[in-house]
Amino acid sequence: MLSVRKKLVVGNWKMNGGQSQNAALIDGVRGSVPEGVDVVVCPPYPYLAQVKTLVAGAGVGLGAQDLSPRKGGAFTGDVAASMLLDVGCEWVLVGHSERRTLHGEDNRLVAEKVAAALDAGLTPILCVGETLDERDGGRAEAVVSAQVAAVVDVLGLVAMAKVVVAYEPVWAIGTGRTATPEQAEVMHACIREGLRVAGVAADGVRILYGGSVTAANAASLFAMPDIDGALVGGASLVADGFSSICAAAAAS
Ligand code: PGA
Repeated sequence: MLSVRKKLVVGNWKMNGGQSQNAALIDGVRGSVPEGVDVVVCPPYPYLAQVKTLVAGAGVGLGAQDLSPRKGGAFTGDVAASMLLDVGCEWVLVGHSERRTLHGEDNRLVAEKVAAALDAGLTPILCVGETLDERDGGRAEAVVSAQVAAVVDVLGLVAMAKVVVAYEPVWAIGTGRTATPEQAEVMHACIREGLRVAGVAADGVRILYGGSVTAANAASLFAMPDIDGALVGGASLVADGFSSICAAAAAS
């Protein structure tokens, strides 16, 4: 079946970068962003405005790594969706496993953040994924389905169709241990089916895979019918590797 979903490759820089590294990285990517693929980078907050300038004319969109569910006010250290929009973001990661684990973000808070992003006109990239214990215990699909369902409950069906989902098994993030394309496809198909059964227009929802994606394994992941792109951490910090992943998406 021919996919109607445009591939999307998102670089999650995490807490990496600096003004000169950012400039060198975007310089390395410029000119090698293929047609027909959406490419986005998500730098740390302090560099969003700088990177917005750097990506001008490079065919690369800008995203943030997190946001507050609140609109503004006395929330020290937090950043509102409207501020992200104001500095040129169009995308925002929500519920990354590092936020869930290190900052105690639960499904309810993640759902509120997704809603805040959509309200402001940003496209949220909702990150979901099971731990190794959950997978070994046979609960991977139940855990991931519950993470998605929590957001559908808060957003409703129409809004959910505007969300990008990123399936990132926690055991594959930063470990060099990628899910096999078959393992990932099973989960992606399960997520899409869950959305469809809930009543969401699931055929249009892009579902990215994340977790140790590299230039070496990207093509085999992108060949799967329900894998619509990648959320890339470590490999997005090296221009050549990131460009190769984008090229693999274009060729798929
Ligand atoms: P990784 O990170 O590519 O370094 O595994 C992916 C992510 O956490 O988004």
